[in-house]
Amino acid sequence: MSHLQAPQTASDKPRICIFDTTLRDGEQSPGASLNLPEKLEIARALEQLGVDVIEAGFPITSPGDFEAVTAIAREITRATIAGLARCTEKDIRRAGEAVKHAAHGRIHVFLATSKIHRDFKLKKAKDEIIRLTVENVKLARSFVDDVEFSPEDASRTELDFLAEVVHAAIDAGATTINCPDTVGYATPREYRDMFAHLIKNVPGADKVIFSAHCHDDLGLAVANSLAAVEGGARQVECTINGIGERAGNAALEEIIMAIRTRPDSFPVTTSINARKLVPCSRLVSTLTGLYVQRNKAIVGENAFAHESGIHQDGMLKERRTYEIMSPEDVGLMQTKLVLGKHSGRHAFRQRLAELELNLDEATLDRAFDKFKVLCDKKKEIYDEDLEALVEEQLESTQPLFVLKGLQVMAGTGGIATATVTLVDSGGVEITDAATGDGPVDAMFATIQRLTKISARLDSYQVRSVTGGREAQGEATVELTHTDRKVRGRGFSTDILEASAKAYLAAINRIRTLATRTVTRHTPLEE
Ligand code: KIV
Ligand code: ZN
Repeated sequence: MSHLQAPQTASDKPRICIFDTTLRDGEQSPGASLNLPEKLEIARALEQLGVDVIEAGFPITSPGDFEAVTAIAREITRATIAGLARCTEKDIRRAGEAVKHAAHGRIHVFLATSKIHRDFKLKKAKDEIIRLTVENVKLARSFVDDVEFSPEDASRTELDFLAEVVHAAIDAGATTINCPDTVGYATPREYRDMFAHLIKNVPGADKVIFSAHCHDDLGLAVANSLAAVEGGARQVECTINGIGERAGNAALEEIIMAIRTRPDSFPVTTSINARKLVPCSRLVSTLTGLYVQRNKAIVGENAFAHESGIHQDGMLKERRTYEIMSPEDVGLMQTKLVLGKHSGRHAFRQRLAELELNLDEATLDRAFDKFKVLCDKKKEIYDEDLEALVEEQLESTQPLFVLKGLQVMAGTGGIATATVTLVDSGGVEITDAATGDGPVDAMFATIQRLTKISARLDSYQVRSVTGGREAQGEATVELTHTDRKVRGRGFSTDILEASAKAYLAAINRIRTLATRTVTRHTPLEE
């Protein structure tokens, strides 16, 4: 319990349903594509966090998305699993198929309603929009009882027409009405008033849950989501770390902590266990490769750091002078030295579980072997090392190419040369060498030759995962291949090896994506 917060009783406060779309809207962030084990890992963490609904993907967009929604629907039993669909028969059938094994399955159907979308994107008149809404909400209801309908770009839709569409969707059997601020254009007052108007005026509004879904183009996503709650919305759609299309979606952790810290302004409850916020944030950042900015609210590295002398003095006298939440409330513990070379498999598993990293036995075995190797190189193993290790295991579940050996020669004045040995998916060892403008360039050029995949290098970064001389290095690369962005990460106590692994992880992703027939990055026609 926070040092500030009054005990919260199980009260008659309205409960806000938390709909997490990290795996759908969040995964639409450029370069954030996740593989199946990574998506499952995030889904498990979201369930532990206590979200009510997990939007697990957009099943029609690719076989990978379909498989992920299906696998999550089979495994996760407490949270509702939603699959997204446009207002078309094939989308809805595919989503219905993907969620059919869920203990609680939902189809989320959307259709744009604003004038600009009707005229330019859909080229459809208002009556056609109503007809499609009714027809497709009914179709979705033939698969599941739980159907969410979203009038896309709701916040820029004429209010009268929006009310008409919402009414039609409710009559057709929608159980949740989500009114998105698709382009992050709304202001809090406008958005709150839109909900209040719909809830007051649309016949049947009392039979459904109204939902907010906000994008952060003007930095207002969280403020708008909270304003929607004031206007009567009882579901909020959000993502961990606020990842998502363009500037992202409303950040789950910020919404939750605003509600908890200001119960006077937001007298509502949620089922979120706030102590899992930081572990969940780290997991999503690690697996997506999307870093959390240092000063990010709640989960950023500096969110609870006090630098100025005046602040530090105040904190020592009374924490509440400068702290409105306590770090423990959001699951931020001091980084501890956790394990070392004498730690056994049990302690290893236990610490991973505390970090919300619940691996299956095979992955755990592989991770434990790597842990022992790491212990030989590094005396002190921190939580960040363990997270890096697990990410590497999940990333390499079905690697196409594995790094077997690496030799680099470089120095001032000479030409850098790299010799790389890879093992391909058939177990065959291949070796080649190339020169380059420095050791990293030489390594990447050699890997391109060996894998026969050439991609543009957009960004390359190296940082240390923990402190100290023997810290593990983390390398991240971002490549563009046939207009598609992919990321790769690699870890090692040797930064050149970490860089080669990162490059190879990105190349493996390119290969995996190329085997999919349709991908989310192929624009879908409405
Ligand atoms: O932003 C948006 O409008 C969406 C819909 C699919 C709900 O993501
Ligand atoms: Zn969205």
